Amino acid sequence: MTNRHFVFIEGSSRSEGNTAALARRAQLHLPAGTSSEWISLAELPLPDFEDPRSPGSTPPIYPDGNEGLLLAATLRATDLVIASPLYWYTISAPVKRYLDYWSNWLKIPGLNFRRQMSQGALWGITVGHTDDESKTEGLATSLRFSAEYLGMQWGGLLYGSGGYPGEILQDQNALQGAEQFFARNLMPLG
Ligand SMILES: Cc1cc2nc3c(=O)[nH]c(=O)nc-3n(C[C@H](O)[C@H](O)[C@H](O)COP(=O)(O)O)c2cc1C
Repeated sequence: MTNRHFVFIEGSSRSEGNTAALARRAQLHLPAGTSSEWISLAELPLPDFEDPRSPGSTPPIYPDGNEGLLLAATLRATDLVIASPLYWYTISAPVKRYLDYWSNWLKIPGLNFRRQMSQGALWGITVGHTDDESKTEGLATSLRFSAEYLGMQWGGLLYGSGGYPGEILQDQNALQGAEQFFARNLMPLG
């Protein structure tokens, strides 16, 4: 397995949370020969997304600042891993805001964001307090449809259960699932 680069985008509203712990466990067990990096959206905050589209509006330019860093990291990924807590049955606000910026990136002239993203795969990791995994359906559907819209492969969702920080470490099924998540679901790209 060569040339696969996993970029983890972590978007909890607290540090040292359960989602980060579960995602770190999965990162530790990435298939041999792959590389990875970890991005915390709390460390690269974005302002609320403003939709600039209107008839006659000029297209967006390549961004600088945190948005530029996030765009560059997103494009470095062959495999983009969204690690979001389950908030109101879907992704957290920081993750949603990050995804909203994709709409701008799709329109940057010469970047061809969609074509670049279509070479890769999207994965999801989430933790909620419920034991009922079916309650992740909204989050999973949101990520899977987003992957499809960009022509990306969908790697699947890893779910664990926990409420207070550290509780995920009691969910043995989720921890075992994390250790096998990428190796078991890795698909060829291309
Ligand atoms: C704003 C908010 C919304 C939440 N919504 C849900 C939910 O819809 N379903 C659920 O099972 N847990 C929900 N929870 C519980 C969190 O998903 C749970 O505490 C999880 O461990 C948080 O992950 P983190 O530690 O990575 O931040 C919610 C928590 C917060 C703060």
